[in-house]
Amino acid sequence: MTQKWALITGATSGIGWATAHSLAEQGYSIIAVGRRAEKLQELQQDISQKWSAVKVKTLQLDITDRKALEAVLKDNLELWPQVDVLVNNAGLAKGVEKIQDANLDDWETMIDTNIKGLLFMTRGILPFMVKKNQGHIVNLGSVAGRWTYPGGGVYCATKFAVRALSEGLRMDLLGSNIRVTNIEPGMVNTEFSMVRFGDQKVADKVYEGMKPLSAQDIAETIAWCVKRPAHVNIQELVIYPTAQAHVGQVARNT
Ligand SMILES: NC(=O)c1ccc[n+]([C@@H]2O[C@H](COP(=O)([O-])OP(=O)(O)OC[C@H]3O[C@@H](n4cnc5c(N)ncnc54)[C@H](OP(=O)(O)O)[C@@H]3O)[C@@H](O)[C@H]2O)c1
Repeated sequence: MTQKWALITGATSGIGWATAHSLAEQGYSIIAVGRRAEKLQELQQDISQKWSAVKVKTLQLDITDRKALEAVLKDNLELWPQVDVLVNNAGLAKGVEKIQDANLDDWETMIDTNIKGLLFMTRGILPFMVKKNQGHIVNLGSVAGRWTYPGGGVYCATKFAVRALSEGLRMDLLGSNIRVTNIEPGMVNTEFSMVRFGDQKVADKVYEGMKPLSAQDIAETIAWCVKRPAHVNIQELVIYPTAQAHVGQVARNT
């Protein structure tokens, strides 16, 4: 049987980690991308132990580093024609300062990761999907890509961009068998808030008194989208926890 491969960026934690497991469970071999080598190794061991037939290839890479990404693409040419699913998951928010007060480095990190990293990776892999006229790109957008909230202007702008790019991709790929899905979660309890605030206490407060989504909830949704028959494309999915009605409206201690 030919091996099916899924490439997942940001597979070292949260939604990416859980998605690597969910797709491995579906029989996909995994190409896991992230910056933390020890986490990539942990993921590889974990998946290999659980599903012995599944292959796991790890690529330590900072997707904002265009030269490094181009080198990885060039050095692994045998892999790309086999990739059926690309999950553009790596992403982050930094800070919640108002635009007039914000740190420019935070802006660059968000824009470089959430928009440019996603674009570079897509540009690298997509031609191989086009060539075989088959594939599925799953982008991790966010409810922040539909609704803005105070202090989230630039993060939201990056996720609005992910939505626009998902739409643009579908238009450019029309007539092919390549599907593009934009997953737009509300609050998910991962390392996301710790990365955003740099303080565990502040991060924990985000989810205090309410039940957020888990990474597993989103991973199962992604796996479900991927598993639809080839003629079915789930274009966009907004997923909130029941305790969240809108970006800024959360029920706590109810
Ligand atoms: N959590 C939420 O509430 C939520 C809601 C809506 C959407 N999202 C989106 O979901 C996606 C996953 O987030 P998460 O919640 O799972 O957060 P997370 O636990 O912090 O995971 C983020 C992943 O992205 C990777 N990453 C970050 N910068 C990278 C870079 N420059 N190069 C390569 N990998 C990089 C991290 O790996 P390394 O540190 O090892 O590189 C990590 O594996 C993001 O796009 C996020 O915007 C999250």
